[in-house]
Amino acid sequence: MTELSVDHLLGIKDLQKEDIELIFKTADQFKEVINRPIKKVPSLRDITIANVFFENSTRTKLSFELAEKRLSADVVNFSASSSSVSKGETLVDTINNILAMKVDMVVMRHPHPGACHLLAQKVDAKIVNAGDGAHEHPTQALLDTYSIREKLGDIKGKKVAIVGDILHSRVALSNIYALQKLGAEVTVCGPKTLIPQHVDTLGVKVDLDFDRVIQNNDVLNMLRVQNERMNLDYFPSNRDYVFQYGLTQERLNKGKNKPLIMHPGPINRGVEISSEVADSSDAIILNQVENGVAVRMAVLYLLASKLNRN
Ligand code: NCD
Repeated sequence: MTELSVDHLLGIKDLQKEDIELIFKTADQFKEVINRPIKKVPSLRDITIANVFFENSTRTKLSFELAEKRLSADVVNFSASSSSVSKGETLVDTINNILAMKVDMVVMRHPHPGACHLLAQKVDAKIVNAGDGAHEHPTQALLDTYSIREKLGDIKGKKVAIVGDILHSRVALSNIYALQKLGAEVTVCGPKTLIPQHVDTLGVKVDLDFDRVIQNNDVLNMLRVQNERMNLDYFPSNRDYVFQYGLTQERLNKGKNKPLIMHPGPINRGVEISSEVADSSDAIILNQVENGVAVRMAVLYLLASKLNRN
C-alpha cells in the first residue's frame, strides 16, 4: 500500500490495518528527520493548513503545529474563544470562510462527536480530527500504538490495558480500534461507573480488579479523569479513586510483572498516576509526545498527497 484508503482522518474506525502500517512506516522516516540538526523538509511547501480548536489543548495543538512547520506548510491558527463563533456563526460557515482564504487542510478539535464527519461532507478540504468530544482522537491512538511498537515490537498478541475514565474518553475508543486492528488483546479497567455499559460488544475484556490487570498486561495506558465532562459524581472522592485505581510504585511492586506505562497527558499527578511512576523509567509519557510529532507529520503528508492540486 502506498496511499491511504481514506481522504480524511476522521477516526480509527474507518482505517484498515494497512493504513495504520503505512502511517507507521512514514512516521519512521519523519522521526529520523526530526532528530536531525535541521528538522525541516519541504514536503508540504505551498500547502496551507488551518488548526481550528473549539476546545482547549496544549499538546495536541502544539504537536500538529510543529508537524506542519517541519513539513514547511503554511499554518494559520484559530481558537473558538477569540472568534465569531461566539457571535452565532455556524460551524460550516466558519470553516467555509477559512477555506475561502485558500486553505487546503483543516485540523479540528470540537466538543461535539461527529463534528469532523459533518465538515468532511460539507467542505472541500482534507479534514483531520484532533478530538471530537468523547468520540475519537485518531492521532493520539496512532502515536500510542506507534510508541508501543517502538518499545515492544509487533503489537500483535500484546496485552494492553486501558485504565480509568473510559466513559468520557476519546483516547480510549480510538485506542481500542487501533489496538484491535493491529491484533492486540485489549482490557479496560476502572470504576464500574466509568466503564461504558456495552463496551464488551467492542470485543474488549472488562476487568475491574486493577491489581490483577497490572499483573496480566504488557502495557497500561492510564487515562485522566475527565472532570470537565462529568456532570455527576462517578466515584465517592479522589482519595477513593486513588485507593482503587491510582497507579503507585507500591502497587507495581506487589507482583513480578513490569508493564510499560503510558498516559496521553495532561496527567493529574497523584490521582490516576503517582509522580514517582510518571517520572520512572518504565513510563514512556514523553516518548509518546515526541512520537506525536512524527506520526502527525506522516498523517498530514499522506493526506496531502491525495490533494488535487491542478
Ligand atoms: C487527551 C484529550 O484531549 O482527549 N489529551 C490529549 O490529546 N493529549 C486526553 C485528556 O484530555 O485527558
